[in-house]
Amino acid sequence: MDYQAVLEQIVQDIAPQVGGGRPAEYIPVLASVDPSLFGMAIAEVDGTVHGIGDWQRPFSTQSITKVFTLALALAQGGDGLWARVGREPSGNPFNSLVQLEYENGIPRNPFINAGALVVTDQLLTLNGDASNELLGFLRQESGNPRLGFDAQVARSESEFGDRNAALAHFMASYGNIANPVPTLLEHYFRQCSIEMSCGDLALACRFLARHGLRADNTRLLTRSEAKQINAVMLTCGTYDAAGEFAYRVGLPGKSGVGGGIVAVVPGHCTLCVWSPGLDARGNSVAGVAALDRFTTLTGLSVF
Ligand code: DON
Repeated sequence: MDYQAVLEQIVQDIAPQVGGGRPAEYIPVLASVDPSLFGMAIAEVDGTVHGIGDWQRPFSTQSITKVFTLALALAQGGDGLWARVGREPSGNPFNSLVQLEYENGIPRNPFINAGALVVTDQLLTLNGDASNELLGFLRQESGNPRLGFDAQVARSESEFGDRNAALAHFMASYGNIANPVPTLLEHYFRQCSIEMSCGDLALACRFLARHGLRADNTRLLTRSEAKQINAVMLTCGTYDAAGEFAYRVGLPGKSGVGGGIVAVVPGHCTLCVWSPGLDARGNSVAGVAALDRFTTLTGLSVF
C-alpha cells in the first residue's frame, strides 16, 4: 500500500473541511490554537511512519490519553478494573454527570471523563503515581524522550476543573475512588496536558495494532485484552458520536478536545489525525472526515 499517496489524496479531498468547527473553548490556551492546522500520520506495524501536513507539530492530547491509561491499568492490575467501570456507550456528553447517580457511581465506560478518573485512580493505587507512569510509557512507545506535560494547560484544566472535581467527588461518595480526590485530579489534569504530535501518537498506539506487543516486542497486553480495548474504542471512543464514527470510519478510534483522533487497523497500522476545529460533540471535524476518506480509499477497516 502506498500510504504516502493515500495521505496526499486525503489532504486534497478534505481541504474544504479544514478550519470547520471550533477549537475547544473551556480553557483559553486551547481556544487560541489556529483552526486551519491539519496533520495526519500512519504508523505501520513495523514502525515505518508516513505523515502529511502538521504531523510533527505537538498538540494537546487530552482524552486520547484515556486509551493509554486504560491499557496500563489493565496490564498492571488485571480485569478487576471492570468491577469499577462499565463497557457500554453512554449516549451522553463526555463530561456528563447524569447517569452516575442512577448507576451507583459506576461510570458507563473508561473513555468518558468519569470512567477515565476511575482508571487513573486505579493506576495511582497500583504505582503511587499515574501521570509520570503514563508519560514514561508514551516516551518509550513513541521513541520520543522529549515528550512532556504542558504546565500551562494542566494549570488551566485545574482552574476550570469544577466539573471533573464534581465527578470525582460524586464517585468517591459511592466508594469508587480510592485516592484523595485532589491528588487524583492533579494526575488527571497532568495526563490531559501531555503534548504529542500525530507521528508520536501513531507510534505510541501501535501495541493496539500489534495485538498487545510493545515497541520493544515485550508484551503489554494479551491478544484478548488488545481486542477488548479496540472494541471499547469502537463503541465508546468518540462519546455520543461513537455510532456515527463507526458508521463513517469503521475503525476503533479515540478523540480528544485538542482536536486529535487516533484510530487502529488491527494487524496493519495505526493512524493519528489532528485538526483543532471540533464538532458539537467534541470530535475534530476535519479529523473524522480524513479517517472516513482513509477507510474508503484503502478499504482497510474492521468490517
Ligand atoms: O477532562 C476534560 O474535560 C478535558 N481535559 C479532556 C476532555 C476531552 O478531551 C474529551 N474529548 N473529546
